[in-house]
Amino acid sequence: MQFAISSQARFANQDNPQAHYEGTGPEIMRQTAGQITHFVSSMGTTGTSMGCSRYFKEVKPEVEIVGLQPAEGAQIPGIRRWPKEYLPSIFDEARLDRVVDISQEEADETARQLAIQEGIFAGMSSGGAVSASLKIAAEAPGRVVVCIVCDRGDRYLSTGVFDPPPPAHHSCYYKNLDLTLSQHRKALPEDMPLFMLFTAPWCPDCTTTLPIVNEIFTGQGAGANFSLLRCIVGKTREEWKDPRHPFRSDTRWGPNGLSEIPTLACLGTASSPLVQPRVLSGLEKIDREQVRFKVESFLKEQG
Ligand SMILES: Cc1ncc(COP(=O)(O)O)c(C=O)c1O
Repeated sequence: MQFAISSQARFANQDNPQAHYEGTGPEIMRQTAGQITHFVSSMGTTGTSMGCSRYFKEVKPEVEIVGLQPAEGAQIPGIRRWPKEYLPSIFDEARLDRVVDISQEEADETARQLAIQEGIFAGMSSGGAVSASLKIAAEAPGRVVVCIVCDRGDRYLSTGVFDPPPPAHHSCYYKNLDLTLSQHRKALPEDMPLFMLFTAPWCPDCTTTLPIVNEIFTGQGAGANFSLLRCIVGKTREEWKDPRHPFRSDTRWGPNGLSEIPTLACLGTASSPLVQPRVLSGLEKIDREQVRFKVESFLKEQG
């Protein structure tokens, strides 16, 4: 079968969804051995979501089709928050089971984390799709969530999204924490307060909190002159839940070790580390404004 798709015609050309109906959908079905439960697609022309939805509704109707759009004000290349009047003519609302908004920070941060943690160098619409998929996967056990990594990251190098973070803002894996901390302290100005955010890529609360905390520490705001180290507590939920995880019995983080992610800790200054770091927990299951308020208040309290 041949398809004729010019870049402008893609919004109206039925060959666009048809290609996904005949190609992408069956390929996903084969590669998941029919186990897929959720399909997440960033929406630009909507061809991917429309074509795959038509296919899944025929062969496995219980697959939940999730369309992703940029949150109000977000600019994510390749996808649009379509006003009703401008929706592509190939779009059919009935083919989506759910529409999810994705924020700029989540899309950008997940694209960076995909590169750092998985070696997948992809664009921001892919970051958004992966971020939404992680949240959907975390809603209930046993889900097989498939999303599309739409394009490569090198197209976006000039936007600055992949620029290295300022030297005072690093990430590390929990197994390397103590080594990273000692190197980090040597590299920082002596009187610079050091904070640590415990986070995890698969944790839905973390995907909300991390970009906000990053913003507070990198912008002109309360954390502008502080250093932030992000500590990933596990690549999977199982790794974190393992009772042998060293943070569970590490009383630096509280009488019962670290029990919640995300958690922010103040470790003192580079030259005068606190033996008992001050800890801010309770950052889960609250909205973005509450996260921002709590973190900023905590930073102010640390003087
Ligand atoms: C980078 C990027 N992301 C997402 C999409 C969305 O895919 P679709 O047009 O099938 O909705 C596109 C479409 O061209 C794209 O270029």
